[in-house]
Amino acid sequence: MNLLAPSMLSIDFGHMEDELRTAINAGADYIHVDVMDGMFVPNISFGPPVIKYVKKAVPDAKLDVHMMVQDPVRYLDKIASIGIYNMTIHLEATDHIKEDLEAIKAAGVRPCVSISPDTPVSALDDVLDMVDMVLLMSVYPGFGGQSFIESTFDKIKELVAKREARGLNFDIEIDGGVTLDNLQRVLDAGVNVIVAGSAIFGAETEKNTKEFLRIMK
Ligand code: DX5
Ligand code: ZN
Repeated sequence: MNLLAPSMLSIDFGHMEDELRTAINAGADYIHVDVMDGMFVPNISFGPPVIKYVKKAVPDAKLDVHMMVQDPVRYLDKIASIGIYNMTIHLEATDHIKEDLEAIKAAGVRPCVSISPDTPVSALDDVLDMVDMVLLMSVYPGFGGQSFIESTFDKIKELVAKREARGLNFDIEIDGGVTLDNLQRVLDAGVNVIVAGSAIFGAETEKNTKEFLRIMK
């Protein structure tokens, strides 16, 4: 099933509550929440207090939390207790990825893993059977509004082939530079969870959400 996850990083924070509701009411499946610590990535975004507020604004929305944070499991209890759906951690951000994914699962959250553009798909081999979703970054993590890195298509195809060969069924999510212009190609390559920030929350949130969903569903 194809799922749309508008990324809050591009939201107009002056109208956060309205914008979140608009995206959800227009049919978005997840709200993608980018947590950044200024260490794993050069940018700082938001953390548990803001996620709590999002949960209050759209209680029924499934929160897809993308941890761009060094040693992400430090924040697991605090964030899991808010009631989130997915927690995605970066392979590059921890020395104990398996333990971290197990801890996420034990906290009642779907464990998901991500790799940045320079990390090969083969680096995921040991954890593919532990995750509910793999997030392939199609830009260098840290900022919205960047262009999609073309070589990500090869990584998607490689991951789809591995999933098939191993008889697994995790979701494949893509994050960074997805627009109405490349959406169909991304879906055709085998991605089923689409993150989009500037292409959704940049301007007409309702119209953009519906346009994405029309192509996806
Ligand atoms: C970037 C974040 C993304 C970002 C995507 O590091 O992980 O979720 O919001 O923004 P767009 O869709 O504008 O590339
Ligand atoms: Zn993200």
